[in-house]
Amino acid sequence: MPVILGIESSCDETSAAVCADGVMLSNVIANQTIHEAYGGVVPELASRVHQQNIIPAVNQAILNAKVNKNDIDAIAFTRGPGLLGSLLVGVSFAKSFALALGKPLIEVNHMQAHVLAHFIDEPKPQFPFLCLTVSGGHTQIVLVKDYFDMEVIGQTNDDAAGEALDKTSKVLGLPYPGGPLIDKYARQGNRNAYQFPEPQIPGFDFSFSGLKTAIMYFIRDNVAINPNFTQEHIADICASVEYRVVTILLNKLKKAAIAYGIKDIALAGGVSANTGLRQGIQELAAQQGWNAFIPRFEYCTDNAAMIAIAGYHKYLQGDFVGQDVAPLARMPF
Ligand code: KG4
Ligand code: ZN
Repeated sequence: MPVILGIESSCDETSAAVCADGVMLSNVIANQTIHEAYGGVVPELASRVHQQNIIPAVNQAILNAKVNKNDIDAIAFTRGPGLLGSLLVGVSFAKSFALALGKPLIEVNHMQAHVLAHFIDEPKPQFPFLCLTVSGGHTQIVLVKDYFDMEVIGQTNDDAAGEALDKTSKVLGLPYPGGPLIDKYARQGNRNAYQFPEPQIPGFDFSFSGLKTAIMYFIRDNVAINPNFTQEHIADICASVEYRVVTILLNKLKKAAIAYGIKDIALAGGVSANTGLRQGIQELAAQQGWNAFIPRFEYCTDNAAMIAIAGYHKYLQGDFVGQDVAPLARMPF
Protein backbone atom coordinates (compact mmCIF):
# COMPACT_ATOMS: atom_id res chain seq x y z
CA MET A 1 0.00 0.00 0.00
CA PRO A 2 2.34 2.76 -1.21
CA VAL A 3 1.91 6.19 0.36
CA ILE A 4 2.86 8.97 -2.07
CA LEU A 5 3.44 12.65 -1.27
CA GLY A 6 2.75 14.92 -4.26
CA ILE A 7 4.22 18.42 -4.63
CA GLU A 8 3.03 21.03 -7.16
CA SER A 9 4.57 24.48 -7.62
CA SER A 10 4.62 25.14 -11.38
CA CYS A 11 2.73 28.44 -11.42
CA ASP A 12 1.02 30.34 -8.61
CA GLU A 13 -0.45 27.56 -6.48
CA THR A 14 1.67 25.85 -3.84
CA SER A 15 0.10 22.46 -3.27
CA ALA A 16 0.83 19.21 -1.43
CA ALA A 17 -1.23 16.00 -1.36
CA VAL A 18 -0.98 12.52 0.07
CA CYS A 19 -2.45 9.35 -1.43
CA ALA A 20 -2.33 5.78 -0.14
CA ASP A 21 -2.78 2.95 -2.62
CA GLY A 22 -4.26 5.43 -5.11
CA VAL A 23 -6.83 6.80 -2.62
CA MET A 24 -6.47 10.55 -2.06
CA LEU A 25 -6.16 11.31 1.67
CA SER A 26 -5.43 15.04 1.46
CA ASN A 27 -4.96 17.88 -1.03
CA VAL A 28 -3.83 21.24 0.38
CA ILE A 29 -3.73 24.20 -2.01
CA ALA A 30 -2.24 27.56 -0.98
CA ASN A 31 -3.40 30.19 -3.48
CA GLN A 32 -1.26 33.26 -4.06
CA THR A 33 -3.36 36.41 -3.95
CA ILE A 34 -0.40 38.79 -4.29
CA HIS A 35 -0.66 38.72 -8.12
CA GLU A 36 -4.15 40.28 -8.15
CA ALA A 37 -2.64 43.73 -7.78
CA TYR A 38 -0.58 43.19 -10.97
CA GLY A 39 -3.30 41.71 -13.21
CA GLY A 40 -1.27 38.54 -13.82
CA VAL A 41 1.29 36.19 -12.28
CA VAL A 42 4.62 37.91 -11.49
CA PRO A 43 7.18 35.04 -11.67
CA GLU A 44 9.65 36.50 -9.16
CA LEU A 45 6.90 37.05 -6.58
CA ALA A 46 5.45 33.60 -7.25
CA SER A 47 8.71 31.83 -6.34
CA ARG A 48 9.11 33.87 -3.16
CA VAL A 49 5.60 32.96 -2.01
CA HIS A 50 6.16 29.28 -2.87
CA GLN A 51 9.20 29.43 -0.60
CA GLN A 52 7.00 30.69 2.25
CA ASN A 53 4.12 28.26 1.61
CA ILE A 54 5.82 25.00 0.77
CA ILE A 55 6.62 23.71 4.26
CA PRO A 56 3.25 24.68 5.83
CA ALA A 57 1.42 23.12 2.83
CA VAL A 58 3.35 19.84 3.12
CA ASN A 59 2.91 19.70 6.92
CA GLN A 60 -0.83 20.32 6.55
CA ALA A 61 -1.18 17.66 3.82
CA ILE A 62 0.58 15.07 6.02
CA LEU A 63 -1.54 16.09 9.02
CA ASN A 64 -4.83 15.98 7.07
CA ALA A 65 -3.94 12.56 5.67
CA LYS A 66 -3.36 11.28 9.25
CA VAL A 67 -0.09 9.65 8.26
CA ASN A 68 3.37 9.94 9.71
CA LYS A 69 6.06 11.38 7.47
CA ASN A 70 8.02 8.15 7.87
CA ASP A 71 5.06 6.28 6.30
CA ILE A 72 5.71 8.05 2.98
CA ASP A 73 7.09 5.64 0.37
CA ALA A 74 7.97 8.12 -2.39
CA ILE A 75 7.89 11.84 -3.21
CA ALA A 76 6.37 12.88 -6.54
CA PHE A 77 6.93 16.42 -7.79
CA THR A 78 6.15 18.55 -10.85
CA ARG A 79 9.33 18.77 -12.92
CA GLY A 80 7.73 20.95 -15.62
CA PRO A 81 6.43 22.64 -17.66
CA GLY A 82 5.99 25.90 -15.76
CA LEU A 83 7.75 28.97 -14.41
CA LEU A 84 11.33 27.97 -13.68
CA GLY A 85 11.66 29.92 -10.41
CA SER A 86 8.40 28.40 -9.15
CA LEU A 87 9.35 24.88 -10.20
CA LEU A 88 12.74 25.24 -8.49
CA VAL A 89 11.10 25.64 -5.09
CA GLY A 90 9.03 22.43 -5.40
CA VAL A 91 11.84 20.41 -6.98
CA SER A 92 14.43 21.53 -4.39
CA PHE A 93 12.01 20.81 -1.55
CA ALA A 94 11.15 17.35 -2.95
CA LYS A 95 14.84 16.47 -3.34
CA SER A 96 15.72 17.58 0.20
CA PHE A 97 12.74 15.79 1.73
CA ALA A 98 13.53 12.58 -0.18
CA LEU A 99 17.14 12.78 0.95
CA ALA A 100 16.14 13.37 4.58
CA LEU A 101 13.64 10.47 4.59
CA GLY A 102 15.78 8.18 2.43
CA LYS A 103 12.87 7.70 0.00
CA PRO A 104 12.76 7.66 -3.83
CA LEU A 105 11.81 10.59 -6.06
CA ILE A 106 9.28 10.51 -8.90
CA GLU A 107 9.17 13.24 -11.56
CA VAL A 108 5.79 14.22 -13.00
CA ASN A 109 4.89 16.18 -16.13
CA HIS A 110 2.30 18.80 -15.11
CA MET A 111 0.28 18.43 -18.33
CA GLN A 112 0.15 14.63 -18.01
CA ALA A 113 -0.92 15.08 -14.40
CA HIS A 114 -3.90 17.26 -15.46
CA VAL A 115 -5.03 14.29 -17.60
CA LEU A 116 -4.35 11.76 -14.80
CA ALA A 117 -6.60 13.76 -12.44
CA HIS A 118 -9.34 11.57 -13.97
CA PHE A 119 -7.93 8.59 -12.05
CA ILE A 120 -8.44 10.08 -8.59
CA ASP A 121 -12.19 9.44 -8.26
CA GLU A 122 -14.80 7.24 -9.94
CA PRO A 123 -15.99 7.10 -12.66
CA LYS A 124 -12.69 6.67 -14.52
CA PRO A 125 -12.42 6.82 -18.32
CA GLN A 126 -11.36 3.74 -20.33
CA PHE A 127 -8.23 3.79 -22.50
CA PRO A 128 -8.00 5.03 -25.16
CA PHE A 129 -9.81 8.29 -24.46
CA LEU A 130 -9.51 11.89 -25.60
CA CYS A 131 -8.77 14.63 -23.10
CA LEU A 132 -9.24 18.33 -23.81
CA THR A 133 -6.73 20.04 -21.51
CA VAL A 134 -7.47 23.74 -21.19
CA SER A 135 -5.65 26.05 -18.80
CA GLY A 136 -4.23 29.55 -18.62
CA GLY A 137 -1.13 28.37 -20.48
CA HIS A 138 -2.25 25.38 -22.57
CA THR A 139 -4.94 24.18 -24.95
CA GLN A 140 -4.43 20.60 -26.07
CA ILE A 141 -6.38 17.60 -27.32
CA VAL A 142 -4.56 14.57 -25.95
CA LEU A 143 -5.05 11.00 -27.15
CA VAL A 144 -4.56 9.00 -23.95
CA LYS A 145 -3.59 5.41 -24.77
CA ASP A 146 -2.30 4.49 -21.30
CA TYR A 147 -1.27 6.23 -18.05
CA PHE A 148 1.98 7.47 -19.54
CA ASP A 149 1.37 6.85 -23.22
CA MET A 150 -0.19 10.10 -24.41
CA GLU A 151 -0.07 11.90 -27.74
CA VAL A 152 -0.93 15.55 -28.30
CA ILE A 153 -3.04 15.45 -31.49
CA GLY A 154 -4.07 19.11 -31.43
CA GLN A 155 -2.84 22.26 -29.72
CA THR A 156 -2.98 26.02 -29.92
CA ASN A 157 -0.79 27.80 -32.44
CA ASP A 158 -0.69 30.90 -30.24
CA ASP A 159 -2.69 31.84 -27.12
CA ALA A 160 -4.38 29.43 -24.72
CA ALA A 161 -8.17 29.38 -24.24
CA GLY A 162 -7.80 30.56 -20.63
CA GLU A 163 -5.65 33.46 -21.79
CA ALA A 164 -8.45 34.69 -24.10
CA LEU A 165 -10.86 34.66 -21.14
CA ASP A 166 -8.37 36.28 -18.75
CA LYS A 167 -7.54 38.99 -21.33
CA THR A 168 -11.23 39.74 -21.94
CA SER A 169 -11.85 40.25 -18.26
CA LYS A 170 -8.76 42.44 -17.98
CA VAL A 171 -9.91 44.81 -20.75
CA LEU A 172 -13.37 44.87 -19.17
CA GLY A 173 -11.66 46.12 -16.01
CA LEU A 174 -12.46 43.02 -13.96
CA PRO A 175 -9.91 41.75 -11.42
CA TYR A 176 -7.43 38.91 -12.06
CA PRO A 177 -7.87 35.97 -12.59
CA GLY A 178 -10.72 36.68 -14.96
CA GLY A 179 -11.88 33.18 -15.98
CA PRO A 180 -14.08 32.59 -12.91
CA LEU A 181 -15.62 36.09 -13.24
CA ILE A 182 -16.38 35.63 -16.94
CA ASP A 183 -18.12 32.41 -15.88
CA LYS A 184 -20.13 34.24 -13.19
CA TYR A 185 -21.28 37.12 -15.45
CA ALA A 186 -21.90 34.81 -18.42
CA ARG A 187 -24.61 33.07 -16.41
CA GLN A 188 -26.57 36.36 -16.31
CA GLY A 189 -26.05 37.27 -20.00
CA ASN A 190 -27.28 36.41 -23.50
CA ARG A 191 -24.70 34.30 -25.33
CA ASN A 192 -26.10 35.28 -28.73
CA ALA A 193 -25.90 39.04 -28.07
CA TYR A 194 -22.58 39.50 -29.92
CA GLN A 195 -21.00 37.35 -32.62
CA PHE A 196 -17.26 36.79 -32.28
CA PRO A 197 -15.34 34.98 -35.05
CA GLU A 198 -14.55 31.26 -35.07
CA PRO A 199 -11.08 30.77 -36.62
CA GLN A 200 -10.73 28.24 -39.43
CA ILE A 201 -7.64 26.25 -38.45
CA PRO A 202 -6.88 22.92 -40.15
CA GLY A 203 -6.83 19.61 -38.28
CA PHE A 204 -7.30 19.55 -34.53
CA ASP A 205 -5.24 22.66 -33.77
CA PHE A 206 -6.54 25.89 -32.26
CA SER A 207 -5.85 29.62 -32.50
CA PHE A 208 -7.13 32.17 -30.00
CA SER A 209 -5.06 35.25 -30.85
CA GLY A 210 -7.45 36.47 -33.61
CA LEU A 211 -10.43 36.04 -31.30
CA LYS A 212 -8.58 37.83 -28.50
CA THR A 213 -7.82 40.79 -30.80
CA ALA A 214 -11.43 40.90 -32.07
CA ILE A 215 -12.70 41.00 -28.47
CA MET A 216 -10.24 43.75 -27.51
CA TYR A 217 -11.23 45.94 -30.50
CA PHE A 218 -14.91 45.33 -29.79
CA ILE A 219 -14.53 46.45 -26.18
CA ARG A 220 -12.36 49.45 -27.17
CA ASP A 221 -14.86 50.61 -29.82
CA ASN A 222 -18.01 49.96 -27.81
CA VAL A 223 -17.66 49.62 -24.06
CA ALA A 224 -14.80 52.05 -23.47
CA ILE A 225 -16.42 55.02 -25.25
CA ASN A 226 -20.05 54.37 -24.43
CA PRO A 227 -21.31 55.81 -21.15
CA ASN A 228 -24.59 53.92 -21.63
CA PHE A 229 -22.86 50.60 -21.33
CA THR A 230 -24.34 48.81 -18.35
CA GLN A 231 -23.70 45.72 -16.28
CA GLU A 232 -26.20 43.97 -18.53
CA HIS A 233 -23.99 44.61 -21.55
CA ILE A 234 -20.96 43.30 -19.64
CA ALA A 235 -22.89 40.10 -18.86
CA ASP A 236 -23.83 39.78 -22.56
CA ILE A 237 -20.18 40.23 -23.62
CA CYS A 238 -19.01 37.62 -21.09
CA ALA A 239 -21.71 35.18 -22.23
CA SER A 240 -20.91 35.74 -25.95
CA VAL A 241 -17.13 35.42 -25.45
CA GLU A 242 -17.49 32.29 -23.30
CA TYR A 243 -19.90 30.76 -25.83
CA ARG A 244 -17.45 31.35 -28.69
CA VAL A 245 -14.49 29.90 -26.75
CA VAL A 246 -16.58 26.86 -25.74
CA THR A 247 -17.83 26.23 -29.31
CA ILE A 248 -14.28 26.49 -30.71
CA LEU A 249 -13.06 23.94 -28.13
CA LEU A 250 -15.94 21.50 -28.46
CA ASN A 251 -16.13 21.59 -32.27
CA LYS A 252 -12.48 20.47 -32.42
CA LEU A 253 -12.98 17.84 -29.72
CA LYS A 254 -16.00 16.48 -31.62
CA LYS A 255 -14.02 16.37 -34.88
CA ALA A 256 -11.14 14.52 -33.16
CA ALA A 257 -13.45 12.01 -31.40
CA ILE A 258 -15.15 11.16 -34.70
CA ALA A 259 -11.81 10.88 -36.55
CA TYR A 260 -10.33 8.55 -33.91
CA GLY A 261 -13.58 6.64 -33.25
CA ILE A 262 -13.42 7.39 -29.51
CA LYS A 263 -16.42 7.47 -27.18
CA ASP A 264 -14.82 8.49 -23.86
CA ILE A 265 -14.12 12.22 -23.82
CA ALA A 266 -12.66 14.11 -20.89
CA LEU A 267 -11.93 17.64 -19.73
CA ALA A 268 -8.89 18.77 -17.73
CA GLY A 269 -7.11 21.96 -16.66
CA GLY A 270 -8.32 25.14 -14.96
CA VAL A 271 -10.78 26.18 -17.69
CA SER A 272 -12.67 22.90 -17.22
CA ALA A 273 -14.08 24.56 -14.10
CA ASN A 274 -16.13 26.70 -16.52
CA THR A 275 -19.89 26.15 -16.29
CA GLY A 276 -20.53 26.69 -20.02
CA LEU A 277 -17.81 24.23 -21.02
CA ARG A 278 -19.02 21.63 -18.52
CA GLN A 279 -22.62 21.91 -19.79
CA GLY A 280 -21.42 21.93 -23.39
CA ILE A 281 -19.41 18.71 -23.11
CA GLN A 282 -22.30 16.95 -21.33
CA GLU A 283 -24.69 18.02 -24.12
CA LEU A 284 -22.23 16.91 -26.82
CA ALA A 285 -21.74 13.53 -25.12
CA ALA A 286 -25.51 12.99 -24.75
CA GLN A 287 -26.11 13.95 -28.38
CA GLN A 288 -23.36 11.62 -29.72
CA GLY A 289 -23.83 8.75 -27.25
CA TRP A 290 -20.38 9.36 -25.71
CA ASN A 291 -19.30 9.33 -22.06
CA ALA A 292 -18.07 12.67 -20.68
CA PHE A 293 -15.63 12.82 -17.75
CA ILE A 294 -14.96 15.95 -15.71
CA PRO A 295 -12.86 15.86 -12.53
CA ARG A 296 -14.03 17.44 -9.29
CA PHE A 297 -13.40 21.22 -9.27
CA GLU A 298 -10.39 21.07 -6.86
CA TYR A 299 -8.72 18.58 -9.23
CA CYS A 300 -9.31 20.79 -12.33
CA THR A 301 -7.20 23.81 -11.38
CA ASP A 302 -3.56 23.35 -10.36
CA ASN A 303 -3.30 20.90 -7.45
CA ALA A 304 -0.94 18.30 -6.00
CA ALA A 305 -3.53 15.49 -5.90
CA MET A 306 -3.01 15.02 -9.64
CA ILE A 307 0.77 14.89 -9.03
CA ALA A 308 0.31 12.31 -6.27
CA ILE A 309 -1.93 10.06 -8.42
CA ALA A 310 0.52 10.30 -11.35
CA GLY A 311 3.30 9.48 -8.86
CA TYR A 312 1.35 6.45 -7.61
CA HIS A 313 1.08 4.98 -11.12
CA LYS A 314 4.79 5.66 -11.76
CA TYR A 315 5.61 4.03 -8.39
CA LEU A 316 3.80 0.87 -9.52
CA GLN A 317 6.01 0.87 -12.63
CA GLY A 318 9.18 1.50 -10.56
CA ASP A 319 9.82 4.72 -12.48
CA PHE A 320 12.11 6.83 -10.22
CA VAL A 321 14.64 9.63 -10.78
CA GLY A 322 17.90 10.51 -9.06
CA GLN A 323 18.98 13.52 -7.01
CA ASP A 324 20.52 15.10 -10.12
CA VAL A 325 17.07 15.89 -11.56
CA ALA A 326 16.43 19.57 -12.46
CA PRO A 327 13.21 21.40 -13.34
CA LEU A 328 12.25 22.10 -16.95
CA ALA A 329 10.33 25.23 -17.99
CA ARG A 330 9.39 23.42 -21.20
CA MET A 331 8.81 19.70 -20.91
CA PRO A 332 7.40 17.61 -23.76
CA PHE A 333 5.22 14.58 -23.04
O1 KG4 B 1 -4.79 24.85 -14.81
P1 KG4 B 1 -4.77 26.21 -14.19
O2 KG4 B 1 -5.19 26.32 -12.75
O3 KG4 B 1 -3.35 26.88 -14.31
C1 KG4 B 1 -2.55 26.79 -15.44
O4 KG4 B 1 -1.79 25.78 -15.54
O5 KG4 B 1 -2.69 27.70 -16.28
O6 KG4 B 1 -5.70 27.13 -15.11
C2 KG4 B 1 -5.90 28.50 -14.84
C3 KG4 B 1 -6.88 29.06 -15.89
C4 KG4 B 1 -6.97 30.58 -15.85
O7 KG4 B 1 -6.94 31.06 -17.19
C5 KG4 B 1 -8.34 30.83 -15.21
O8 KG4 B 1 -8.92 32.06 -15.60
C6 KG4 B 1 -9.11 29.65 -15.75
O9 KG4 B 1 -8.20 28.57 -15.64
N1 KG4 B 1 -10.33 29.38 -15.00
C7 KG4 B 1 -11.57 29.51 -15.52
C8 KG4 B 1 -12.49 29.18 -14.49
N2 KG4 B 1 -11.78 28.87 -13.36
C9 KG4 B 1 -10.45 28.98 -13.71
N3 KG4 B 1 -11.97 29.87 -16.76
C10 KG4 B 1 -13.29 29.91 -16.99
N4 KG4 B 1 -14.23 29.64 -16.06
C11 KG4 B 1 -13.88 29.25 -14.81
N5 KG4 B 1 -14.82 28.98 -13.91
ZN1 ZN C 1 -2.11 23.61 -14.83
